[in-house]
Amino acid sequence: MPSIRPLPDLLINQIAAGEVVERPASVLKEVLENAVDAGARSIQVALDQGGVRRIRVEDDGCGIERDELPLALARHATSKIAQLEDLERVTTMGFRGEALAAIAGVSRMSVTSRASGASHAWKLDAGQAQASPAALAQGTVVEVADLYFNTPARRKFLKTDATEYAHCDEMFRRVALARPDLAMQLAHNGRVIHRLPPGDPERRIRALMGDDFFAESRSVDVDAGPLRLSGRASLPAYSRAGRDAQYFFVNGRFVRDKLLAHAVREAYADILHGSRHPAFVLFLELDPAGVDVNVHPAKIEVRFREGRAVHQFVRHALQRALAESGAGQALGGSPAAEGRQDSARSSATTWAPPPAPLSSQSRLAMEPASRAYFEFATAARPAEGRGMVPAVPLPDSAPGEAPPLGYALAQLHGVYVLAQNADGLVLVDMHAAHERILYEKLKHVLDGSPAVQRLLIPAVFSASPREMATAESQAETLLGMGFEVSAAGPGELAVRSVPALLARAQVADLMHALLEELHDFPASEVITARRNELLATMACHGAVRAHRQLTLPEMNALLRDMEATERADQCNHGRPTWTRFTLAELDRFFLRGQ
Ligand SMILES: Nc1ncnc2c1ncn2[C@@H]1O[C@H](COP(=O)(O)OP(=O)(O)O)[C@@H](O)[C@H]1O
Ligand SMILES: [Mg+2]
Repeated sequence: MPSIRPLPDLLINQIAAGEVVERPASVLKEVLENAVDAGARSIQVALDQGGVRRIRVEDDGCGIERDELPLALARHATSKIAQLEDLERVTTMGFRGEALAAIAGVSRMSVTSRASGASHAWKLDAGQAQASPAALAQGTVVEVADLYFNTPARRKFLKTDATEYAHCDEMFRRVALARPDLAMQLAHNGRVIHRLPPGDPERRIRALMGDDFFAESRSVDVDAGPLRLSGRASLPAYSRAGRDAQYFFVNGRFVRDKLLAHAVREAYADILHGSRHPAFVLFLELDPAGVDVNVHPAKIEVRFREGRAVHQFVRHALQRALAESGAGQALGGSPAAEGRQDSARSSATTWAPPPAPLSSQSRLAMEPASRAYFEFATAARPAEGRGMVPAVPLPDSAPGEAPPLGYALAQLHGVYVLAQNADGLVLVDMHAAHERILYEKLKHVLDGSPAVQRLLIPAVFSASPREMATAESQAETLLGMGFEVSAAGPGELAVRSVPALLARAQVADLMHALLEELHDFPASEVITARRNELLATMACHGAVRAHRQLTLPEMNALLRDMEATERADQCNHGRPTWTRFTLAELDRFFLRGQ
């Protein structure tokens, strides 16, 4: 055995670099965070060859005194914490005092800095003992060249310049999203990629996430005293196949955290198909003492003191923000809609509901909501040719105002409902919209308080042995939901009642699907464990099928139901349930007024 010796400093730093300096992007992260910690108002980044050749970060922060320059590059030297208590309430991005030392160990690094009050700047090359005078107006410039030039084994792990650049770009975005108040610029191989003026979070999010995301997302801002969640989260229509475009910040620090990821997933559970992922930029703020950031050298993982409370809060806050995007609000509130208010004709006063149905006799049984609407629509029908807006209060709209989704005109190919509202044309996917509405209403069924409809003639259908067994073992659960099911003979089940909301469903089809869902689950768990699946199954079978002819009152009832339903904008699979074409858009399409 060789004798035991202390490791030389350089080697210690190179070992530490293995943890913090994985690639150019991790260098960029550390240097950017130092600039943020130094109170910079403006940060300029220049990269060459994906950052492998050179990373240069210039800031206008507090700078470093000449005699402290060597300390800045020394391991375990930091100006940010002094004692254990500081670590428990750390508010700076850095605190371990090891990044610059580690980077210096695996690159050619220099730091040029001018502390406020100093007559000029000083430059220190890593490895040198003495700083030399330099020119700089204010702040600090850190230059990192030839990463891993002295550790060829690590250099081999670097990917192409394009890939390394992409990682750097991502790192830059994280800092830029977290700090919209700072002016930030990123250049690669001499070309400016991002030039971001200081501004508010919404503006920064739009600049970095794009107009499409911005239009298809909702603003989140929920303040619950010690916890605050803000930012923007995508509507399901903007969902993605991957988890890119997900930014979660805790006290300004970008994190990837299982607990938070789970809370977000739960918030989207009702509106997003399992294989799709939302896009979001979310900021959680809480007392620094409530979160431990010293879990990992790169500080990308955190630990919450009150994990459960944080989880609940994030989930509910997000759910609420997404639910507030009811159809009516989306119509008036989206920036896209605001941009389109340019048409003089879109004012509600010149708008008239379409003519009432020619024949108002509906041969189809209507749900109570439809019937109520039917009565309303008949009463509110304007005198022929008068073109007045009905003066009857509507859900979510003041007296005299037109309902956001307008009034039905017709049904297209048995699939879409066409309606006219104040702005123009509204198109509704009738099955998807009805399914969504039912899904929300059916939640009461699973809460065990459903209104029940007894069937005059029991629905009898043939069932497999497995279905027979499930119907028997889950009879009580089914009864609680409003389904009275029993054996009618060998291989036959009879349904005597169903939840009133599902009175129009094809009972046999619904039962087959439901029994499939209930199969294999212990009765005690069935509703909690399969809640979403059960709701989806029932909603799908209860919703109007395509190609069923609807009367205008039925279509209007559907529109009113949509306006009154939370999250009616998307079906249970995350597809949009309706869209619109404003008159301005239609005019453009026909090149009118050009
Ligand atoms: N851009 C900068 N402006 C001012 N001071 C800096 C800058 N970068 C580094 N420093 C100083 O150098 C010290 C060491 O930096 P670093 O190794 O990243 O450790 P940490 O950020 O964990 O303190 C910091 O504590 C800070 O005092
Ligand atoms: Mg640092």
